[in-house]
Amino acid sequence: MSDAAVAVRGLGCAYPGTARPALAGLDLELPPGALAVVMGASGAGKSTLARCLTRLVPCFVPAEVTGDVRLLGEPIHGRRVGELAGTIGMVFQDFEAQLFSTDVTQEVVFGLEHTAVPPAEMPERVARALATVGLAGFEGRDPTTLSGGEKQRLAIAGLLALRPPVMVLDEPTTDLDPVGRAEVLRTLAGLRGDGLTLVVIEHDTAAAAGADLLLVLSEGRVVGRGAPRELLADVEACAAAGIRAPDTCCVLAALGLPAPPLDVETAAERLRAAGATPKPPRFLPPPRPLRPPLIDVCGLGHRYPGGHAALAEVSLAIRPGEFLALVGRNGSGKTTLAKHLNGLLVPSEGAVRLEGHDVRGLALEELAQRVGYVFQDPDHQLFAATVEEEVAFGPRNLGLDPAEVEVRVAEALAAVGLDERDADPFLLDKGVRQRLAVAAVLALRPDVLVLDEPTTGLDFVEQQKMMALLRARHAAGQTIVIITHTPWVIAEYAERVVLLAGGRLRYDGPPRQFFADDELLAAAAFRAPDVTRLGRLLGCTPLSVAELVSWMPGRQAPCP
Ligand SMILES: Nc1ncnc2c1ncn2[C@@H]1O[C@H](COP(=O)(O)OP(=O)(O)OP(=O)(O)O)[C@@H](O)[C@H]1O
Ligand SMILES: [Mg+2]
Repeated sequence: MSDAAVAVRGLGCAYPGTARPALAGLDLELPPGALAVVMGASGAGKSTLARCLTRLVPCFVPAEVTGDVRLLGEPIHGRRVGELAGTIGMVFQDFEAQLFSTDVTQEVVFGLEHTAVPPAEMPERVARALATVGLAGFEGRDPTTLSGGEKQRLAIAGLLALRPPVMVLDEPTTDLDPVGRAEVLRTLAGLRGDGLTLVVIEHDTAAAAGADLLLVLSEGRVVGRGAPRELLADVEACAAAGIRAPDTCCVLAALGLPAPPLDVETAAERLRAAGATPKPPRFLPPPRPLRPPLIDVCGLGHRYPGGHAALAEVSLAIRPGEFLALVGRNGSGKTTLAKHLNGLLVPSEGAVRLEGHDVRGLALEELAQRVGYVFQDPDHQLFAATVEEEVAFGPRNLGLDPAEVEVRVAEALAAVGLDERDADPFLLDKGVRQRLAVAAVLALRPDVLVLDEPTTGLDFVEQQKMMALLRARHAAGQTIVIITHTPWVIAEYAERVVLLAGGRLRYDGPPRQFFADDELLAAAAFRAPDVTRLGRLLGCTPLSVAELVSWMPGRQAPCP
């Protein structure tokens, strides 16, 4: 018998009614104290692996499972999910579904009560877990009132308090701000020292950098297995598996330099040694905006019931045709601000004006036609039985005639690249649901699109589709406001960054200045994209790999 903590042999899994098995012959062996990161495009079988390890499949999700899985040397075949609670624990991809208690403390205690943790140990464990994820002070809060990222932090705290010997985390950092993400990943890596074994599913290659093993899945099979640094250095293989290769690897590959490192400091040294010195152009200050604001936020303050001041004295003008990114750490007030732009929330102080009219005086239907809002979680928005119904709902509600409704539906579905009109929205992949949520809003032909974290939880291919879609809407004249934690999305797409810190406006200006201001980034728990950090070590501030490489004398723009 092997002394592996996780031993998977020939694991296969087929969901009923599907043509291709979700997993086909997967092998994985992890010694105690190992951290494995699993990557791959959506549909590759990552979450199925997590569900098979925890027995959620087939106990709760029916499927035909073949092969052998052993945890701590014991076969799990035939075991109930609850019986494994002391052995393996999980953070779900859909962490909202995981939270059900009435306060934050109870949420963490719940898991402890269902394992053999002595009650006397509980308060200390709960306090430590909450502090680790940055939720000290949130003990009495109702989990439903937490921000998206705070909820995800709470789900992680539940697992950290429990400390089962094997932990599975399915995309645990999607909604976290960049610094929070790095802290959580560091905490997880640190658990190895206590002999805990971790399987972390992630789309972000930064998560893989410190892993002992990287497993790349594609269509249910392992297509890459080995040291992260070696696998991620192969930019083309990453692209083929739907993974966004690390910036350092793309830059070095484009310059024909072998064996790229994953960290920017070593990459900068390698470039210096190779004599690659970027020569950036001179950047002129952006032209002063001439057009009057479409939306004017004046001295906005918002206090939630219970007294929490989520926004204070926020003033900004959004002009027609802008592409603006609203950023800030978890709980900084981004969603709260966005919900004021179309009247979903009412100001406690100040006002929001649309072309000079206070939005409080406008009918909600009129507002919805001018300012479209796509929720942080598309599932908060989708409700219809079919894709077509979902998109038709808004235009129908406006009283448009059936022919016009059809025109709007066809136009919106084409814009987001969806043609399965009869599909059930809830059976679609997250990325497709996200695009459907956008289509439902586009069908109202709003002047402004406000999207709360439109790429969160999507794989790289879907993220690119979403951003290409927004760029096309922008080119067609729509004003775009996105909330995002993803540095490369801001760097490559936004023309203007608005940073909130503790509910107040902290920065409002071009992305290049934002990413060049280390003090500001540190204060805001933000990080520049790796290519920007690399460029800064070489004396410039590029916003994309293509830009940095094009600044290298004698080089053409590379890499997709
Ligand atoms: N319904 C509510 N009741 C009480 N407090 C709330 C409520 N909704 C949000 N808050 C609090 O207001 C603050 C701002 O929340 P908001 O959702 O705007 O943050 P955010 O910047 O969007 O965060 P994230 O990046 O995590 O999505 C947070 O501290 C949050 O806990
Ligand atoms: Mg939010």
